[in-house]
Amino acid sequence: MNETYPLSILDEILRKRRSVRAYQPEKPARALINAMLDSARYAPSPSHTQPVRFLLIESEIVRTGLHQKLVDGKDRFLAAIDPNQAVKSPKNLIRSYFRFAEFMISAPYLFAVGTVKTPSFSDRLIAAGVLRENPKGFSDADITTGLSLSAFMLKGAELGVGTCILTAPFVYIPDLSKMLHPDVRVTCFVTAGFPAETPTPLSRIPLEDLCLTV
Ligand SMILES: Cc1cc2nc3c(=O)[nH]c(=O)nc-3n(C[C@H](O)[C@H](O)[C@H](O)COP(=O)(O)O)c2cc1C
Repeated sequence: MNETYPLSILDEILRKRRSVRAYQPEKPARALINAMLDSARYAPSPSHTQPVRFLLIESEIVRTGLHQKLVDGKDRFLAAIDPNQAVKSPKNLIRSYFRFAEFMISAPYLFAVGTVKTPSFSDRLIAAGVLRENPKGFSDADITTGLSLSAFMLKGAELGVGTCILTAPFVYIPDLSKMLHPDVRVTCFVTAGFPAETPTPLSRIPLEDLCLTV
């Protein structure tokens, strides 16, 4: 496609955005983060319900509490390994995946991201007795969360602010989803800060693998 169509500024930002897991200690100005949040507001949402919420975790107590729960979760997994049964010990897997969660604790900005409940078309059909349950589950909420995050991260890439989505913490911390805010069903975290690493280049699947004709 790019052989026939020149790369635009958008293409360059899309290629520049990479998951950043190591940050400079200097915290980006709040105005930069607000610009990223502002972009997130323009994501599409089901029936324009705009359910996505970013919970900015500023409290050191909350950060320390999350860290302790991560460590407890890791230790619980390690303790649960039966040395006589495991053909190949998953210890390294548990420890390395843990590192993909732990870095968020010291990131300059840390957000938990999720959705509030908004009335949906399916809810109305359930209330009318037409449907018994929502056939879409949480997929609408999760799709719109991803779209908001995409806008947030791409704006970050434009501004030189590195970001990374994390869902690994959910593996280590049980019941995390409702722990941070009673009304927000949290589905991931996202970090932000000035990059202190250049991620190694990654290949992308070819268009013919991405787009299948059915
Ligand atoms: C839904 C989702 C969950 C992810 N969870 C984690 C995570 O828990 N920890 C982490 O370090 N990276 C996580 N990532 C980042 C991916 O590892 C990363 O996007 C992928 O390796 C491609 O690299 P890139 O973002 O630099 O292009 C997640 C990404 C997505 C989209």
